[in-house]
Amino acid sequence: MRKEGRNEISEPASKPVIHVLTQNEGKFREFLELSKEHGVVLKQLPSPKVEVQLRSLEDIATYAASVALVEWGVPLFVEDAGLFIEALNGFPGPYSSYVYKTLGVDGILKLMEGVKDRRAYFKSVIALAIPGEGIRIFTGIVRGSIALEARGTGGFGFDPIFIAEGMERTFAELSISEKNKLSHRGKAFASMVEWLRTAFKSRIS
Ligand code: IMP
Repeated sequence: MRKEGRNEISEPASKPVIHVLTQNEGKFREFLELSKEHGVVLKQLPSPKVEVQLRSLEDIATYAASVALVEWGVPLFVEDAGLFIEALNGFPGPYSSYVYKTLGVDGILKLMEGVKDRRAYFKSVIALAIPGEGIRIFTGIVRGSIALEARGTGGFGFDPIFIAEGMERTFAELSISEKNKLSHRGKAFASMVEWLRTAFKSRIS
């Protein structure tokens, strides 16, 4: 079934159009900026991403994309992301959304009290669904560390406690475009656009 999307961005018709299913406004803002930088048109579909609790981001994203493809029947992608903390054996990982809602940033800082090894990474998994072509996965990782205290007001989720390698500011202290240049999401999105450009060369300039 085809439905009308919302938040449609008016762009010249020649640019490729891709739909995203997310109700996380922080993520959507980042994808919107990324789509402008990469010369594609992003449209937000108005249904929620189906959230199932599985043990890998890949499985969660693939399931949500399959359900969305049946519902919408247009080229679309969904993303699942998580924060993996080395000293906590990768926790919260695929449970990041639930842990953010329950423990939050302060809860993670508490778990990390007195912990010297503060290495962590964010991982983004994008599942791209194209009618007749199935699902394709693109991933991006950014390595960094957990800050000693929360800093910054930008971004969303665990951004105030994540410092990317080589940086001093947390993700929440960066502009969207600064974060996109380093982030797991920026990398996964860039791989998807690169694949789309190769696969649909004739349609994408
Ligand atoms: P989901 O991908 O919507 O399931 O989100 C997983 C959770 O991971 C979010 O609720 C955030 O708390 C966290 N998360 C994912 N990506 C980011 C990010 O770029 N910055 C901060 N937190 C993130």
